[in-house]
Amino acid sequence: MPLIMPIFGTRPEAIKMAPIVQALKSSDMDCFVTVTGQHRDMLDQVNDLFGVVPDADLNILQPRQSLSSILVRTIDGLDRLFASNMPDAVLVQGDTTTSTAGAIAAFYRGIPVVHVEAGLRSGDIFSPFPEEANRKITSQVASLHLAPTAMSKANLLKENVAAADIVVTGNTVIDALLTTVSKPVSFSDPRLEEVAEAGKKVLLVTTHRRENQGETMRGIGRALARIADAEGDLTIVLPIHKNPAVREAVLPALTGKSNVIVTEPLAYGEFTRLLAISAVVLTDSGGVQEEAPSLGKPVLVMRENTERPEAVDAGTVRLIGTAEQRIVDEVLLLLRDEVLYKTMANAVNPYGDGMAASRSIAGIAQMLGVGSRLTDFEA
Ligand code: UD1
Ligand code: UDP
Repeated sequence: MPLIMPIFGTRPEAIKMAPIVQALKSSDMDCFVTVTGQHRDMLDQVNDLFGVVPDADLNILQPRQSLSSILVRTIDGLDRLFASNMPDAVLVQGDTTTSTAGAIAAFYRGIPVVHVEAGLRSGDIFSPFPEEANRKITSQVASLHLAPTAMSKANLLKENVAAADIVVTGNTVIDALLTTVSKPVSFSDPRLEEVAEAGKKVLLVTTHRRENQGETMRGIGRALARIADAEGDLTIVLPIHKNPAVREAVLPALTGKSNVIVTEPLAYGEFTRLLAISAVVLTDSGGVQEEAPSLGKPVLVMRENTERPEAVDAGTVRLIGTAEQRIVDEVLLLLRDEVLYKTMANAVNPYGDGMAASRSIAGIAQMLGVGSRLTDFEA
């Protein structure tokens, strides 16, 4: 039986890889899960929820780690691991440094690289930074490209990737979301349970992008404080990233705001429930941009560009940039303009149908000569 090694290290990779790991475990292929530990608490939280137990853990996290240290420690750790555990293929997901380091380490050893969530492009090498570069590097060394949408496949074709090496799978985040959001869960934070029970109007906020850190993120904090003051009946919920640079920038402006709830990162089940009860989502996250549209939640994205234009085209997501005043204006407009709200609050599913893991496994089996692929995902 072929041996497949999924490699991942951060929260979003763990969420998006979980459906594939689960599908691999019940397939005819062997699965050896390797985590780098680029994240620790936020990674373990997801693995616990999905019942994923790593077979190897490089445990690389360092407080305030640099990109180069993640890259070097991952490549070195994986190369040592490959010396005793040579898989028939590795799977890497998305555009983190774990993912690109995993792809390079495998490529150097001659191991075929399967890229999950391939072909996303913002068109700006500096935004998101360093993710746009990371995903392009991985595309260069991958043998099989699991593109989530027809648009991501088109991006790869433009870069001369052979059509035969691309499978359009849908995004595995929708598999994870659909299986998770349907299960009842209680909030561990009583403040959130109270908000849910009272049916309060919620603005859900997440922010963490490296290119937004510093003054831009301080401005995001100030914008949230102004929105909280302007809309007394609104509750702003901010499950804050573990990154100390994020906390130092965003939190000072929010001190003493009674309608702002700041929580530790929420377990995925709790987060999907929070998404489901929110009125509006304000975020710079990639995964949240993909999940919220399928729950019919309008999303305002605090970025200048996006590699996920599908939901923008569908009208559920708006790019609003990162300027403090613009964030305040756009959030208040959406909360106060019922017509605009209704045009954006439509459930659309451009990113997947919950079958992405099955298509991924079939594509891998075909690459290894032990099966055949399924029909591509169509939105
Ligand atoms: C990384 C990814 C980014 C992804 C994000 C998801 C890269 C280059 N960036 O962001 O693509 O969107 O993760 O959240 O790979 N920390 C902890 N515990 C944790 C996680 C983080 O303490 O469980 C702290 C550490 O101090 C760490 C810092 O947060 O140094 C930043 O973590 P890191 O993985 O380097 O974050 P980003 O690069 O911002
Ligand atoms: N998420 C979570 N708990 C939280 C915040 C986010 O489980 O408190 C999930 C969210 O549903 C999404 C993923 O984490 O699937 C997004 O991770 P993040 O924003 O850190 O990274 P990105 O998607 O931007 O790479």
